[in-house]
Amino acid sequence: MAYGPDQILEGAGNSDYERYIRTVELLNLQPRPETWKHRDELLFTVVHQSSELWLKHCTAEAIQAVEHLKKDEIRPALRLFPRMMLAIKYCHDSLDMLEQMSPWDYQQVRRALGHGSGFDSPGMNSIRKAIPGLGVEFKRILANANLDLVQLFVRHTEFEDIYLLAEALVELDERMYLWRHRHFKVVERSIGLKVSGTQGTPVEILARLNSFTFFPELWDARTDLTNYAIAEEGEN
Ligand code: HEM
Repeated sequence: MAYGPDQILEGAGNSDYERYIRTVELLNLQPRPETWKHRDELLFTVVHQSSELWLKHCTAEAIQAVEHLKKDEIRPALRLFPRMMLAIKYCHDSLDMLEQMSPWDYQQVRRALGHGSGFDSPGMNSIRKAIPGLGVEFKRILANANLDLVQLFVRHTEFEDIYLLAEALVELDERMYLWRHRHFKVVERSIGLKVSGTQGTPVEILARLNSFTFFPELWDARTDLTNYAIAEEGEN
């Protein structure tokens, strides 16, 4: 393939595509076949590296959304939520690929990982750090509107933007929850539960993390709403 003189960017690679996307560096970031303990190291690395990239993107959008919310710009913040959800969904869906590895083949891959542990995932750690900031701003906005959560849900058409923000937070929380549960099943299917991970953490600890939620108040508000409806019906 001949690359015409119309390539204008500097950098490694023959074309502007390769130079801008930095494919030379990117495609060199996976272990080489001659060093593989098992050929599924490629599968394993591609899933993890792409997850880290999506989580990097997700975190950037969450940080930007917090900035918007600080200025009461709810709609511009809301536009960023589908991006965050999709990024987490891609991480969730790419776990399917890991289940293409046989448990025995994964035991060979595992030998290459040293003490590498998902607890040290920069992507997951940064998104977990960023998400609570969204909740802080939501609470501030809710208080400024003189609303509690039950009233927000009851009067949702009056406070459309704040309501949509509450639902976006719940969905984000749910997507993180779905990833965690899916990951837990992948771990169970790959190495079992009554063992320790590469850093010596018993896998059963992951089961305890499964019940974690970022916005418990938003989930509890559903119960409060049901009780509110029951009380209201009793009055009539
Ligand atoms: C075959 C696939 C996988 C296996 C067997 C696996 C195994 C484990 C194990 C055993 C732990 C417990 C801590 C430890 O000792 O390492 C863990 C935690 C973790 N892993 Fe994975 N993992 C897999 C794929 C992934 C992927 C694709 C990601 C994406 C970033 C990921 C992210 C995490 C995170 C963030 C934790 C911390 C606990 C949590 O947040 O729930 N893992 N993993």
